[in-house]
Amino acid sequence: MAKKTSKGKEKKLLRKEENAKAIEERSFIDDALRRANKVDDLLKDYPAFHTYKRNGLDLELQFHKAEALPENVLDWAFMLCKSNMETFYNASWGWHDDTKRSELGCAEARFIIAYTKAETGKREPVAFVHMRWEKDDTEGWPVLYCYDIQLEPSVQRKGLGRHLMKFLQLVAVKTDMHEVMLTVQLENGDALRMYRHLGYEDHWDQPEAPEGEPSAAYVILTKKLPASVAQQQRALKPVTNSYQLENIIYG
Ligand SMILES: CC(C)(COP(=O)(O)OP(=O)(O)OC[C@H]1O[C@@H](n2cnc3c(N)ncnc32)[C@H](O)[C@@H]1OP(=O)(O)O)[C@@H](O)C(=O)NCCC(=O)NCCS
Repeated sequence: MAKKTSKGKEKKLLRKEENAKAIEERSFIDDALRRANKVDDLLKDYPAFHTYKRNGLDLELQFHKAEALPENVLDWAFMLCKSNMETFYNASWGWHDDTKRSELGCAEARFIIAYTKAETGKREPVAFVHMRWEKDDTEGWPVLYCYDIQLEPSVQRKGLGRHLMKFLQLVAVKTDMHEVMLTVQLENGDALRMYRHLGYEDHWDQPEAPEGEPSAAYVILTKKLPASVAQQQRALKPVTNSYQLENIIYG
């Protein structure tokens, strides 16, 4: 048997350390996702986000897990998606009622829903965000994926969309996610404008253009968060100071 050189030993040791770090990183990520999925009420710790009272709107925000989403609210969310998005979907990956219904009803789906207040008339849902905690397919980092943000036309352009996205970003930081990700059709100029204003950038991994087309009809956007698991893993200081947090929420 050949004698092992010290160089070989060093290599082995390095490999062992790398493996140990990768395992530690993986379990840290799984823990973060498990913890986030267990949260019973995302809004509980953020009274400032319990209501939205601006630009003539007076709304209450409520958190729902898919399993506890009332059937009539699920129907409403589906119909709102369909009326806002069917044309955009058909110009990209196609609209399918069943696919959207099962996406909204998926066990991992989490919702923030804005309702009109009973005191001001009837309590009705007018806007929602649908999000999920996931591992990014490409890099394996934990991300908060925004599946939908949908507002009734009557409450659009009053700052509510921006407000909901800011809440999402805050939640992503607080649950140790690496970034917020979402997909948007290139034809949806209003939404694209909002995401760009909020600091979203193109993800490095974009869909391929269909044959004969110059580009895909949609783009994957990402907003990296300073308090990311990646930073914590590399032993950098996560965001804790209020100035940095404020920048994420309001900046
Ligand atoms: C896109 C949408 C979520 C934006 O929410 P919103 O409450 O209407 O937008 P806000 O009032 O918060 O405005 C956010 C930003 O977008 C811009 N914006 C929003 N709607 C716009 C419009 N119709 N035209 C031009 N700019 C618009 C605003 O100028 C604002 O930028 P600023 O904050 O830097 O000034 C909402 O209009 C909507 O639900 N649209 C239909 C569904 C949809 O397209 N969802 C996105 C799927 S990816």
